[in-house]
Amino acid sequence: MMTSVATTPPPLSTAYLGDNATTCGSCHQTLKESWSATPHANAWQTLVDDTATTQLYCIQCHSTGFDDEYNFSGQLVTAGQNTDGYDDNPRTGLQGVQCEACHGPMSPNPAPHTPQLATAFSGEVCAKCHLHYDEWRTSAHGTVLDGMTREEFFDEWDGSCSVCHISEGFIMAKDSADWAGMTLTAENANQVTCVTCHDPHSDDNSSQLRTLADVSSPYGGPAYNNGAYMITGLGKGMICAQCHHARRSSSSIQSQFNNGSAHPGPHESPQADMVMGYATYEIPGYTYVRDAQHTTSNVADMCVDCHMYTVAVPYDQAGTPVKGHSFAPDVRACAGCHNNTPTFDVEGVQSEITHLLDSLGVMLPQDTTGHVMAATDTIVWTRKQREAGYTYLFVEQDKSKGVHNYNYARTMLENAITYLLAP
Ligand code: HEC
Ligand code: HEC
Ligand code: HEC
Ligand code: HEC
Ligand code: HEC
Ligand code: HEC
Ligand code: HEC
Ligand code: HEC
Ligand code: HEC
Repeated sequence: MMTSVATTPPPLSTAYLGDNATTCGSCHQTLKESWSATPHANAWQTLVDDTATTQLYCIQCHSTGFDDEYNFSGQLVTAGQNTDGYDDNPRTGLQGVQCEACHGPMSPNPAPHTPQLATAFSGEVCAKCHLHYDEWRTSAHGTVLDGMTREEFFDEWDGSCSVCHISEGFIMAKDSADWAGMTLTAENANQVTCVTCHDPHSDDNSSQLRTLADVSSPYGGPAYNNGAYMITGLGKGMICAQCHHARRSSSSIQSQFNNGSAHPGPHESPQADMVMGYATYEIPGYTYVRDAQHTTSNVADMCVDCHMYTVAVPYDQAGTPVKGHSFAPDVRACAGCHNNTPTFDVEGVQSEITHLLDSLGVMLPQDTTGHVMAATDTIVWTRKQREAGYTYLFVEQDKSKGVHNYNYARTMLENAITYLLAP
């Protein structure tokens, strides 16, 4: 175990204060208080409560600065790099997962410190103890910046993109209190890492989720007077809704229709709006059915229950089950409610939506490969096609083919087709 993951950050100094966060807390008092309420602060006690004989194998993840690696029978596998830490100098001040477990050793004098925030952000610092890392690292969230340097990101992408595409931008926008004291520069840029969704210093939300706040989505259609509306009530799925929503206001949609667009459609991420049943462009005079088949009364934590199916992994000797972190929907999540369905195509819904989508697609301008053209204009595309094309992209970019909201996806495709066929 733990062989496939990257190592912890190189130490800034070799020695730990190891005073149970006392020194850090003398200047960072609020952070210390909120951290003290997290399971990390209590990790030693859980271990002691769990097992009378605290084995080195267990201690390696329930203490600070432990960098030798042990296998299940408690035998030393790899010698560590640090010359200090719980493995080298076991002392009560290093019990539990303290500040220095993520920020690195800071003895003897932390005051002029340059804590390695970049490495704390990276996700690799969590990998040592959390096997969630392996699934996350190969997920879409763990690969957002693969093949792209930080400089390239900031050259090619403006700051508005950073809010959802990199960790630092998200924290700055959504958790400004925690951002205080840090700056967003070309030096910072991490994927959608563990600490994007999890706040390392606060247990205010379940599993230290960083925010479950309502989200203001820029366009709610005629039902909201073409203005912003609130995405709300998705349980723990609210963490996903922070980023997975459409990005177009009423005026930017009208601009796509008036002028054509190099990037038509709602942006690649309209899933939360689809679940809510708002925010596609609704053609005046047509009826749209909004009600999703899944609500929090049957699927309590939207997004999370289907996309983070709980699986048992050999986490510790007890094999504690953990939430899946590939973020891909898992057909086992549907089984209990849908009679052990072997596919997502429950009641043929995905087939039906795919068929409607294809039927609409052939009514829109095609490129040479037979796909709907990626950009709209005012020459090849008629205005009606640009309007119906928005619907096409909304359903296509949602990617669930009706699972997120069968009624809304079906009525918007049927309406667009009828609209194009009308004289
Ligand atoms: C003598 C006071 C003092 C002590 C002790 C102290 N810090 Fe700090 N720390 C500061 C100040 C001041 C800042 C700058 C904060 C700001 O700009 O708002 C800072 C900033 C930080 C930052 C952010 C750095 C960045 O790049 O933005 C981290 C992380 C941090 N401290 C961690 C720690 C840890 C962990 C400890 C204990 C090992 C610790 N500090 C001990 C005063 C202290
Ligand atoms: C030194 C090992 C270690 C490191 C490093 C570490 N953790 Fe943990 N983490 C633990 C242990 C052990 C627990 C369980 C503590 C307990 O319940 O006693 C835990 C608990 C948690 C929990 C709470 C889970 C729950 O059920 O509420 C979250 C969230 C978490 N860690 C996230 C992170 C993140 C994110 C990072 C990286 C920034 C990280 N951890 C780094 C060992 C570690
Ligand atoms: C590879 C690192 C690692 C090792 C080794 C490890 N743990 Fe843990 N342990 C964790 C993490 C991480 C958590 C938090 C689980 C979570 O919420 O995802 C945890 C949680 C726990 C909990 C709280 C579980 C709960 O359901 O609240 C107990 C008790 C525990 N560990 C005991 C042990 C014991 C006993 C051993 C040795 C036999 C051990 N651990 C070995 C990382 C480890
Ligand atoms: C599980 C890993 C982890 C632990 C434990 C941890 N931190 Fe952090 N810390 C981070 C990460 C990641 C960031 C950057 C993201 C953020 O602020 O949420 C950070 C940011 C900071 C900052 C700068 C931002 C701010 O909120 O002011 C300070 C200061 C800081 N930590 C101090 C501490 C202190 C003091 C402790 C212990 C009481 C501690 N940290 C425990 C991972 C951790
Ligand atoms: C895109 C958001 C997101 C990212 C990125 C993410 N998590 Fe999670 N994590 C969640 C959600 C949502 C839950 C489920 C919360 C619940 O059910 O209480 C969760 C649960 C957890 C838990 C609680 C125990 C359990 O059941 O597994 C731990 C520990 C954890 N994550 C650690 C990590 C670590 C370590 C990383 C990075 C390697 C990471 N997470 C990346 C969203 C995220
Ligand atoms: C409101 C949050 C948000 C903002 C702001 C945002 N994006 Fe996205 N973007 C997402 C999400 C979420 C996805 C992934 C959706 C999916 O794959 O289903 C995504 C996907 C993408 C993709 C497709 C990625 C791929 O590999 O196929 C591109 C390209 C993209 N965004 C570019 C941008 C650019 C450029 C900006 C800034 C001008 C930006 N995004 C701003 C949330 C956002
Ligand atoms: C900080 C913003 C953010 C949050 C929070 C977030 N995501 Fe994402 N997600 C993204 C971005 C950005 C991408 C696209 C990455 C790419 O392709 O470059 C993505 C991609 C995905 C993908 C892959 C889509 C594809 O087309 O392959 C899935 C599935 C996904 N996210 C589900 C979730 C779930 C479930 C949650 C909540 C637990 C969540 N996301 C939370 C930003 C976010
Ligand atoms: C009832 C279960 C369920 C719920 C609830 C749910 N999803 Fe999905 N999601 C799916 C299924 C099934 C797919 C389609 C997978 C396929 O056909 O390959 C999907 C597709 C996606 C995709 C595209 C994934 C890819 O690989 O192409 C993203 C991103 C996504 N969902 C995000 C979300 C977000 C964000 C939420 C909450 C607002 C959410 N989902 C709620 C089941 C669900
Ligand atoms: C907690 C229970 C629950 C889970 C989990 C769940 N569903 Fe459902 N699903 C329902 C209920 C209830 C309905 C409404 C059935 C009705 O109206 O007759 C429904 C309806 C549907 C429909 C519309 C078809 C119809 O018969 O109305 C589709 C498609 C669907 N679910 C797909 C999925 C997929 C795919 C998954 C897994 C990724 C999933 N569901 C997970 C409870 C669930």
